[in-house]
Amino acid sequence: MQIITQPIQMQSWSMQQRCAGKRLALVPTMGYFHDGHTSLMTWAKSQADLLMVSLFVNPTQFGPREDLRQYPRNLDRDTQIAEDLGVDVLFMPSAEDMFPSNHAVWVEAPSLCRGLCAVQRPTHFRGVATVVAKLLMLTCPNLAVFGQKDWQQLAVIQRMVQDLNFPVEIRSRPTVRESDGLAMSSRNVNLDPAERTQAPTIYSGLRQVQQWVGDGETEASLLLAALGEFYAREMPLGRVEYMAIVEPELLYPLEEVSGAALVAVAVQFQGARLIDNILINTQ
Ligand code: PAJ
Repeated sequence: MQIITQPIQMQSWSMQQRCAGKRLALVPTMGYFHDGHTSLMTWAKSQADLLMVSLFVNPTQFGPREDLRQYPRNLDRDTQIAEDLGVDVLFMPSAEDMFPSNHAVWVEAPSLCRGLCAVQRPTHFRGVATVVAKLLMLTCPNLAVFGQKDWQQLAVIQRMVQDLNFPVEIRSRPTVRESDGLAMSSRNVNLDPAERTQAPTIYSGLRQVQQWVGDGETEASLLLAALGEFYAREMPLGRVEYMAIVEPELLYPLEEVSGAALVAVAVQFQGARLIDNILINTQ
């Protein structure tokens, strides 16, 4: 496995490979790998000749009061995991090289950032979209693979690639969970033991909504009120930041669940803020 840290070197390597006719896949990450990350890598590898993984804790997607400094890191372990998985290039640029002090251009998708995570994290998705745009330009992949756990992120990236005509295919993969249903996240290690015990309730609540819809309840406001009661009863250590039922691609709130609907939540524990979602389809 090659480790590349210089953006220019990354770009010339990937352009050479493309000119040689290779099919390239990229999995962008912020590291501290878990089975969610490795599931993307394994799948991406099966779809391409060469697999590139980027590992960059992007400062521009963290707000001023967010957990950039507490974000977990373990470069030695990550490097070993990537090597064992057969990653061809691990791209680890520095923050100074990616965002020098004269950086001035940003990618934004305001219509997708009116709700969900963007309410509490107003500059998050412009940081994500901008860094992903840069990573795509530097790695020139045929396809880039993202997880459905970060649904709003995926929607923004899909829109960016369509609207700005990036020559890349965006593919997504399902959320990988612990055996108790908790969505895997690098931030789970920051939960204390009592919080870790309650955190799987996030997903059991989403499954409840799916069940209620299956039983015939389709009014979003009633479903969300019932979900709020469920969380208040079963998850007293978590403060619900938002619960929403939205159209899956454009992310506007739905009043009725008919056809495809995404139920998305964010829960703030003392140790970590966690997000999760479930796609419901009544047809
Ligand atoms: P990070 O949180 O490290 O996640 C990297 C990729 O792994 C993302 O596509 C994310 O959706 C996916 N992922 C995370 N947890 C997952 C799970 N439990 N199951 C399946 N996939 C999962 O998301 C980011 O980094 C950053 O915002 C990034 C896109 C790299 C831009 O900085």
